[in-house]
Amino acid sequence: MSLKDRVYFCPSCKDPLTIVYDDRELKERAEVGFHGKGVWRYASFLPFKGDEEKISLNEGDTPLHVSVNIFRELKLSFLAFKNEGLNPTASFKDRGMTVATTRAKQIGSKVVACASTGNTAASCAAYASRANMLCAVVVPEGQIAFGKLAQSIAHGAKIIKVKGNFDDALETLLKLCEENEKIYLMNSVNPFRLEGQKTVGFEIWEQMGRKMPDWISIPVGNAGNITALWKGIKELKGTKLADKVPRLLGVQAEGASPIADAFHKGLDVIRPIESPTTIATAIRIGKPASWRRALKAVRESRGYMVKVSDEEIVEAQKVLARKEGIFVEPASASSLAGLKKALDLGVIEKGSSVVAILTGHGLKDPEAAQRLSYEEVSVKPDPPELAKVLRI
Ligand SMILES: Cc1ncc(COP(=O)(O)O)c(C=O)c1O
Repeated sequence: MSLKDRVYFCPSCKDPLTIVYDDRELKERAEVGFHGKGVWRYASFLPFKGDEEKISLNEGDTPLHVSVNIFRELKLSFLAFKNEGLNPTASFKDRGMTVATTRAKQIGSKVVACASTGNTAASCAAYASRANMLCAVVVPEGQIAFGKLAQSIAHGAKIIKVKGNFDDALETLLKLCEENEKIYLMNSVNPFRLEGQKTVGFEIWEQMGRKMPDWISIPVGNAGNITALWKGIKELKGTKLADKVPRLLGVQAEGASPIADAFHKGLDVIRPIESPTTIATAIRIGKPASWRRALKAVRESRGYMVKVSDEEIVEAQKVLARKEGIFVEPASASSLAGLKKALDLGVIEKGSSVVAILTGHGLKDPEAAQRLSYEEVSVKPDPPELAKVLRI
């Protein structure tokens, strides 16, 4: 691994680097077309020649569930949920991790590391196992959901708990990576992560019959995913494969909303939040690394940012599970909570077509499910008593 393989930020503007293809290259890539399944179906739009060893767990190809109940209540012409919780480690992170781990292998890296609110760690640990690499995950102590921690434990990652929040964990790891040439960083500041994550936009477009919806709603934490989504959409539009671009609805939790705040104040910089709070631990981030690219994406798409409360997130989680049969973790539910808010505000018009991205599975954070209202009774092992409580 050489020094140039470990540069993640632009030395002048300090933003994370992006892999850019020029127009001629994109046109050639579009001519190759899409073949196969999952993330690697879009290999012609990924930064590889094709002869590398792919580190894959069959990620991508997640279902687009067309809403059968909620869309009517929301008065939308079409609503679908892109269920990213059905990726191999149960979150969207796998899309980026297959590409970044393939890159790690290509450059001969033996050690990968990430700071994480849990899902990046779980994914990084799984792909590192597959690639025979050592994995270190740096997590905020006491702040990650147990389901996610269990995944890192199972995959044999070295787990390092930082006494602080996610932003402290990332800052600490970034400083170490500046000095230690052995570590390949797997956070979304690694441009290869975003290359994989952009494929969610390609899939939505193909699953909708090579059409884009009017809006795509997406939760925003460190802001890598919304950046990746917009990059993919622009590439599709740039090659004239897609005839229109959707507007992006970025959703943040009220206690962790630096990008939404900057958007509403019309600012070009964010004011970081020192102690972010929300039950949606995956988006409990006060200093998002990709804030500038996220603001640009939302503005370029003529989109909007909303903030949602914890109560609204819990309600959306319940509605998704009980009216559509989809169990997601709280951060994922924020994309439905945000959609509802944008409709109430009149930002999204009734009759629009919308895709809400559900980023992670509900079993990641089983404790959060206990916040949902439910009925529970205990009975003796006695059929008549059981019939009595069932009222049948
Ligand atoms: C389930 C889930 N949703 C949303 C996000 C936010 O994605 P990003 O940090 O790329 O904005 C994360 C990030 O960890 C996540 O795990």
